[in-house]
Amino acid sequence: MSARPLLVVVLAAGQGTRMKSSLPKVLHKIGGRSMLGHVLDVAKQIGGDKLAVVVGPGMEVVRKEAEVQAPGASVFVQQSQRGTADAVLAAREALAGHSGDVLVLYADTPLLPAEALKALLARLDTGAAIAVLGFDAADPTGYGRLLTDGDGWLTAIREHKDATEAERDVRLCNSGVMAFRVDDVLGVLARIGNDNAKGEFYLTDAVEIARRDGARAAVVTCAEDDVLGVNSRDQLAVAEGIFQKRARAAVMREGATLIAPETIWLSFDTKIGRDVLIEPNVFFGPGVVVEDGVEIKANCHFERAHIGRNARIGPFARLRPGAELGPDVHIGNFVEVKNVKLGAGAKANHLSYLGDGSVGAGANIGAGTIFCNYDGFNKARTEVGEGAFVGSNTSLVAPVTIGAGAYIGSGSVITKNVADDSLALERSSQEERPGWAAKFRAMMSKRKAKTD
Ligand code: UD1
Ligand code: MG
Repeated sequence: MSARPLLVVVLAAGQGTRMKSSLPKVLHKIGGRSMLGHVLDVAKQIGGDKLAVVVGPGMEVVRKEAEVQAPGASVFVQQSQRGTADAVLAAREALAGHSGDVLVLYADTPLLPAEALKALLARLDTGAAIAVLGFDAADPTGYGRLLTDGDGWLTAIREHKDATEAERDVRLCNSGVMAFRVDDVLGVLARIGNDNAKGEFYLTDAVEIARRDGARAAVVTCAEDDVLGVNSRDQLAVAEGIFQKRARAAVMREGATLIAPETIWLSFDTKIGRDVLIEPNVFFGPGVVVEDGVEIKANCHFERAHIGRNARIGPFARLRPGAELGPDVHIGNFVEVKNVKLGAGAKANHLSYLGDGSVGAGANIGAGTIFCNYDGFNKARTEVGEGAFVGSNTSLVAPVTIGAGAYIGSGSVITKNVADDSLALERSSQEERPGWAAKFRAMMSKRKAKTD
């Protein structure tokens, strides 16, 4: 990449009416992160010096997302959607104060790899004043066509609606990603008119204007998957599918085994170590880290959780935010863990809810144990000490502390703290009447015989 300063302008003003959503289009998610978040991330990866995001009026949620995902970015408002050139002009202030390269990205194109953008920017060092990222479309309908001369230089970009029959036969299409090495980008944009089928100010017209000034425009191509534009829910699903395929491949490259990769759903930030074995149908929400050697059985759901080395999880386990599992922990079927730290080797193998608290190393949580953490108003914590043994079907009513090495008898409702190494039992003592059942049956059959 060149040493010239780089300004990246991300266009995110479109509401995206074809999404039929109350959420602005660019906030729809791919791999657990908004499309805008993906685009801002790639902008950061290529090392832009300045970042400008253009949002629509009243799109406070989009502005917020931009501020969260790219804290240093300046946000501009495009008052009415009059086209992509007009959208770039909304960032006039950023452009005016900038001398160097300008890269325009559309926030509805979430799968862009940094390499493609670097190749595009590099083209500005080899004679091109404008470089456009193009691709060979399987179906070019709707895309702008890239028209080139005999030497492969770009002469114009023709929007589908404005194209002649012959131009529509061109399969080389505009991804929307454009890079400029023009001293006066604002001057070029100011000359763009709106005499076209949509009556919009097209950014793509910059190519013809620059050519008239004697500058040259070039095309750099990439794979269609890299520049998929999302305008509808079905395209959103296609983009999600491509994202997942890439994420699964990355996880397997790093040494994890996915028995049925097409059934594993990953997030943009999922981290999975080596020699991790994942059975089918597992969903990773954002913020999950899985250390080396972990085995995850089928049908689990995770979100903002940490799974320590060699742990065994599932089948049918749910780890919610703040589940922090130490090494060798076992979490079995129908166990839900939220905001609980489990020490090394702790086990909760069946049918439990562990919410808000801690479980010491080596402790055993019996089947059906519930941390009663909520009284309808406040949450409270349950602390289980190291090596404690909690019998099956126990309710631990928080706030409560179970000492290290303590035993809790099955079926207890524990409301008071239990000291280290004690036994706590909370249930009525068992009564037994020898021979009662036989007598009862004899009496009942006699009665029945009389009434028949
Ligand atoms: C655009 C390109 C087309 C290209 C296609 C690739 C133009 C004129 N056309 O068409 O050549 O093949 O992308 O997907 O650029 N936006 C604003 N303000 C506006 C208009 C648009 O911020 O006034 C934003 C949208 O939010 C979106 C992006 O710009 O993120 C592209 O706009 P969109 O309407 O989706 O353009 P396309 O018709 O897809
Ligand atoms: Mg589009």
